[in-house]
Amino acid sequence: MQDYRNFLEEILIPAEELQERIAQLGEEINRDYQGKNLHMICILRGGVMFLADLMRHVDLPHTIDFMAVSSYGSGARQSTGQVRIALDLKEDIHDRDVLLVEDIVDSGYTIASVLELLATRHPRSLKVCTLLDKSERREVEVPIDYTGFAIPNEFVFGYGLDLDEYYRNLTFIGTVNPEKYQPPD
Ligand code: IMP
Ligand code: MG
Repeated sequence: MQDYRNFLEEILIPAEELQERIAQLGEEINRDYQGKNLHMICILRGGVMFLADLMRHVDLPHTIDFMAVSSYGSGARQSTGQVRIALDLKEDIHDRDVLLVEDIVDSGYTIASVLELLATRHPRSLKVCTLLDKSERREVEVPIDYTGFAIPNEFVFGYGLDLDEYYRNLTFIGTVNPEKYQPPD
């Protein structure tokens, strides 16, 4: 695999800015979930870095769980917008105050289907916290309760987000120069 420095177009959100904003989101969650039964659900795999950093700022007793979804067919986005549960939650969410933690809302299909599914399990409340919002690409309307950053319509990577499954480890969010990036074969 290429070194990311070869195709990094620009650092869109530096590590310090991410951490500062995530601390603020943690404070908002602390205020809003006082006395509630907070259960944070991370959507794998893009949300892992964000969840891990966000929960360090959540100063309330809470629990976490994980789920993974995948789009039908090949490629990241489908015209049908259908997603499939690849890994379901370990725990029942009935009567819990569920907060979905996502890396990015793009077309909105992922979050929309996850919300639809989880609502059938009767949580006490169900909210969405996304690190990034690429709203220009929205195809289905989704309620977002907490947003880290609104970003332009560009492909981003790093801080949990992948480029062909690599580069999730980077501490910042970067944009890709498509002319310089060589996808793995
Ligand atoms: P949506 O269903 O179109 O909202 O897409 C959500 C999923 O697509 C995210 O959870 C990401 O995994 C992936 N995705 C969308 N945009 C990007 C991007 O710019 N970089 C990396 N992954 C992305
Ligand atoms: Mg994702």
